[in-house]
Amino acid sequence: MNKLSSFEADIRPLFTQRDIQAMSKAFNLASYDDVKTHAVEIFDRIRGIGGAVMPPPPPKGEGPWTQSRIDLFAKWVADGCPP
Ligand code: HEM
Repeated sequence: MNKLSSFEADIRPLFTQRDIQAMSKAFNLASYDDVKTHAVEIFDRIRGIGGAVMPPPPPKGEGPWTQSRIDLFAKWVADGCPP
């Protein structure tokens, strides 16, 4: 059995202070409620769907996530976005 993922343990640590600051006009990536509300859009943008890939490549950001991080986000959504 796969252990359920959680926002606090698995997802929140994926967002850097820079990410949180950069996206604060749109939503708060440090907030469970905000990330849950925007989970589908966020999942698209970390895969470069619907606009420029997030986080943007240097110098604007730290660049696209590895596939394993994207998979972790996908699992969290599939698990029902546990807090
Ligand atoms: C619905 C999801 C998202 C949308 C629509 C979105 C949209 C945007 C837009 C329009 C910009 C400005 C780009 C520019 O100036 O060229 C931006 C910048 C940025 N975003 Fe996102 N973003 C999303 C999710 C994320 C996520 C999930 C992360 C981090 C994991 C992230 C990290 C950043 C960073 C680091 C910047 C750079 C800001 C700067 O220029 O200093 N974004 N985003």
